[in-house]
Amino acid sequence: MSEYNKAQNDLRDKPKVWLITGVAGFIGSNLLETLLGLNQTVVGLDNFATGHQHNLDKVRAAVSNEQWSRFTFHESDIRHPQDCAKAVAGVDFVLHQAALGSVPRSINDPFNTNETNSTGFLNMLIAARDAEVRRFVYAASSSTYGDHPGLPKKEDLIGKPLSPYAVTKYVNELYADVFAKTYGIETIGLRYFNVFGPRQDPKGAYAAVIPRWIEELYRNTPCRINGDGETSRDFCYIDNTVQMNILAATCPTAEAANQVYNVAVGSRTTLNELYREIRVRMAMQNKAITGLEPEYCDFRPGDVRHSLADISKAANLLGYAPTHTLQQGLDVTTDWFIDQFKQSDVNDV
Ligand SMILES: NC(=O)c1ccc[n+]([C@@H]2O[C@H](COP(=O)([O-])OP(=O)(O)OC[C@H]3O[C@@H](n4cnc5c(N)ncnc54)[C@H](O)[C@@H]3O)[C@@H](O)[C@H]2O)c1
Repeated sequence: MSEYNKAQNDLRDKPKVWLITGVAGFIGSNLLETLLGLNQTVVGLDNFATGHQHNLDKVRAAVSNEQWSRFTFHESDIRHPQDCAKAVAGVDFVLHQAALGSVPRSINDPFNTNETNSTGFLNMLIAARDAEVRRFVYAASSSTYGDHPGLPKKEDLIGKPLSPYAVTKYVNELYADVFAKTYGIETIGLRYFNVFGPRQDPKGAYAAVIPRWIEELYRNTPCRINGDGETSRDFCYIDNTVQMNILAATCPTAEAANQVYNVAVGSRTTLNELYREIRVRMAMQNKAITGLEPEYCDFRPGDVRHSLADISKAANLLGYAPTHTLQQGLDVTTDWFIDQFKQSDVNDV
């Protein structure tokens, strides 16, 4: 039996109380759905800065009434220490996801990125320490590798940050490390590498590439590629990310705590390859896009050229075993988005 299956069985036998910050967002709402499905008690916190009520509504529709009754939502803000203290009271595990994502957003608005991602993080960490939670698991980022050229990326070899966003995510790791040493709180940082899947927001200036391209191809609109398309990423399906959060929170081994881990698949795909993978799936329901080519534009400042994770640390210390490749994740994700677009097109008529 896999470590993940064991962890899920243990949680079903002995349910815990969890706090998910950023619960109305893409990753947060997927964590919520899995934890409620495991009959856990969950407190959620979000200020809807980039998250949506419809993400919570979809979770509500996916779980039973009894499971949903174990969820309490706080519409509040991690920039306010009292909101953090209120949400974390009585909680076993914190899964801290709330942040302002996107490298370009941070370049346009470094102040607000810092307020939420650094100050908000510190507020949440202090609240978790004071509430004596069992473990504080937080969303770190592969952007922390910055300008380090090495591939694959190993946790202990990082470069200099290339954006304000990357600075904030690195600051999170520094604070978590110092809090572990100074106050004895257990923390685990998860360096996510380009997560994708159902409920990721396809809209807005800072949308991630996969949902954005799926929607554009659905609507017969040409997609834009920043640069020559040979930029590469280790795209990670959401179920792998959820697995890592649960393993990180529940892993009983002391040496596994107070660490950071890559969360990825360990496989690299260029944007040109990704475009073809998405187009072939979308062309199954719309033949007109079969030969639709992308438009190439300038490279984006702050973007790392290549990204590929070494996932052996997570495999060895937490028993992480990704269940989905990029291709398997894209099968589920494109089907899910097509279904959503069809439903909203019907409702718009
Ligand atoms: N998606 C990725 O590929 C990726 C990669 C690396 C790191 N991350 C990190 O993972 C976490 C979740 O990302 P996501 O993709 O789900 O993004 P998301 O934007 O869908 O979710 C973030 C959530 O945080 C909430 N939030 C923002 N500011 C807040 C505040 N001040 N108080 C309370 N809630 C607030 C938003 O409303 C949103 O619901 C973030 O910390 C992000 O930096 C994501």
